[in-house]
Amino acid sequence: MLSDVTGGLRWHLRALRRRRLWSPTTSLIAEWLESVKPASKHLLLIGGSAGWMMSSKWLQNFERIDLVDLDPLAMMLFRLNHGRALRAVKAKLYTHKSDGIAGLEALLQSHPQAFVFFDNVLGQHRFRVSDQDQAETDLQDFAKRLQGREWGSVHDLFSGPVEPALVPSRPQRRFASEITTMGLTSGGLHGDALHRRLLTQVGASRVWMDHFTSPVFPIGTSNALISWRFSKEYAHWLQAGWVSLNRNGFA
Ligand SMILES: C[S@@+](CC[C@H](N)C(=O)[O-])C[C@H]1O[C@@H](n2cnc3c(N)ncnc32)[C@H](O)[C@@H]1O
Repeated sequence: MLSDVTGGLRWHLRALRRRRLWSPTTSLIAEWLESVKPASKHLLLIGGSAGWMMSSKWLQNFERIDLVDLDPLAMMLFRLNHGRALRAVKAKLYTHKSDGIAGLEALLQSHPQAFVFFDNVLGQHRFRVSDQDQAETDLQDFAKRLQGREWGSVHDLFSGPVEPALVPSRPQRRFASEITTMGLTSGGLHGDALHRRLLTQVGASRVWMDHFTSPVFPIGTSNALISWRFSKEYAHWLQAGWVSLNRNGFA
């Protein structure tokens, strides 16, 4: 597969070309990952691609990493991006070209002790499942499939067109948030009020897409909302969180 809606050659070329544009977001993700300290030294990384926006430093916390991605190019490029850092700490990397969402239960069984991390993949679920109601339900029920496991995810929450002239001079790029009984909540705001606050920070214009991911984490999960200037004309808000067996990660 050279290119598809969520990865492949097109993704790699974009990631290479836009490295500098994406670097503030990559740094915010790396900063947030520093708070993700699972008990396991084994990482099951789903949809990790070549790890263009992944922190080598955080990966070095693990003794073994199993990378699962549909994209055959991901495996070689992930080694190029992170191989040296992993060799430096003698971490073992195994790669699997397979579907980490449809095949999740089998992967969980094969790797019963691993911390599971979905690396910017759940937000694309709606593009892979043609029935949009089904995609929404899948994501609402997603945490149930991971019950009893430590897991985390960074994923698209919303995305859409931006107008450079509307971007505030000092935009807020990260918000601490939590999943409450009201849904995704930040600074006492939720629903439309929160969406307006987020969209203002990136200079949103016209209609934005909901990636159906806001109910992915269980109630009580702390998470970080991180803006991502994807191109000159398009931006995303990412949601990053993790679920521990004893405590939730903090944003
Ligand atoms: C946006 S990219 C991830 C980018 C990655 N976090 C990075 O830093 O480069 C999404 C990746 O998820 C992969 N993907 C999409 N659906 C998948 C699935 N069901 N199972 C495994 N990988 C999947 C795609 O092949 C693609 O490489």
